[in-house]
Amino acid sequence: MKEFKVGVVGATGMVGQRFVSLLENHPWFKLTAVAASPRSAGKTYEEAVGSRWAMPTPMPQQAKNLIVMDAADVAGVAARVDFVFCAVDMKKEEIKALEEAYAKAECPVVSNNSAHRFTPDVPMVVPEINAQHLEIIPAQRARLGTTRGFIAVKSNCSLQSYVPALHPLMADFGVSKCLVCTYQAISGAGKTFDTWPEMLDNCIPYIGGEEEKSEKEPLKLWGHIKNGEIVSATSPAITAQCLRVACTDGHMAAVFVSFDKKPTQEQILEKWRSFPGPAQELQLPSAPKQFLHYFEQPDRPQTKLDRGLENGMAVSIGRLRPDTQYDYKFVCLSHNTLRGAAGGGVLLAELLAAKGYLG
Ligand SMILES: NC(=O)c1ccc[n+]([C@@H]2O[C@H](COP(=O)([O-])OP(=O)(O)OC[C@H]3O[C@@H](n4cnc5c(N)ncnc54)[C@H](OP(=O)(O)O)[C@@H]3O)[C@@H](O)[C@H]2O)c1
Repeated sequence: MKEFKVGVVGATGMVGQRFVSLLENHPWFKLTAVAASPRSAGKTYEEAVGSRWAMPTPMPQQAKNLIVMDAADVAGVAARVDFVFCAVDMKKEEIKALEEAYAKAECPVVSNNSAHRFTPDVPMVVPEINAQHLEIIPAQRARLGTTRGFIAVKSNCSLQSYVPALHPLMADFGVSKCLVCTYQAISGAGKTFDTWPEMLDNCIPYIGGEEEKSEKEPLKLWGHIKNGEIVSATSPAITAQCLRVACTDGHMAAVFVSFDKKPTQEQILEKWRSFPGPAQELQLPSAPKQFLHYFEQPDRPQTKLDRGLENGMAVSIGRLRPDTQYDYKFVCLSHNTLRGAAGGGVLLAELLAAKGYLG
């Protein structure tokens, strides 16, 4: 694989820092540009981030002295890179315009933002689930009038645990309905306990917009391409409640599920054990060896113990058992800033590179 020059737009933020960390020593991608708001522009990356560095590993040496560019300097950033990752905290319309500007400057955008998730010709991809949606990219390029540039997005962090668990069960058993309660870490809001001390010893039963995303985005992932658009699936029916809990990283979900053709417990476990996924088949550098891990112990997975499984890129599942209202219930866990954000973004970029879309 050729080496790609990569920029991170929003590099000083929580997700941006994860990208910068993950790109250190990446076999295919080399960080050559960092961009953020005018507040950070002109400073070295080390100065701009300052005490906000929230990663468990030290800031990569190679990033420290990069001069932060203004994200609005699209031509300047695009000239230094082959594609960008984007994770910015701006208004939705501003993000939409910024990402389109990069794409139109022939600079592909791999985005963590929600702004374009429902643009009909923008693929929203979890590589193990709907890699085939990348086939929409030529239609998007035709609309944008580009030859290289396009936008691809990853889905919201809340659903990265339960959608992978449900997906291998869909074809043979038909998931008819699903109720999910998520228990989401504070890094999902770009916070630490230092910057959000009110979260210590606390649980907040509201995360703006999260329940709608948790119910609606899975249906786009399970959708199909028709006439240059991705048409969302119409089932299963999903209802969600999303709570913020006092954890640094890791989103847990409690899931209740019913099927058209009820499987046995052993059939479900076998589907989870044997689920391969294209990211594993293509041996993408960031792909976990085993995407879905089932824990037999009744008190696992635990957020603190298991969020880092396979570099935070695997999904942990446990407590599968029959339910009185639904067919089954279980719990699952994924790392929200790794698999759920930057790690998922890097994996998506690896898939795009492997399939020739970044060439
Ligand atoms: N945290 C998660 O787990 C998670 C998961 C999935 C998706 N996301 C999404 O990823 C995005 C970033 O989240 P985050 O948690 O990393 O946010 P964050 O920590 O608040 O960082 C925001 C970033 O956006 C930049 N920014 C703010 N205003 C800007 C402007 N006007 N122009 C250019 N850059 C600007 C900031 O630069 P300065 O430092 O210069 O202000 C910073 O780099 C959001 O859309 C979020 O919804 C987050």
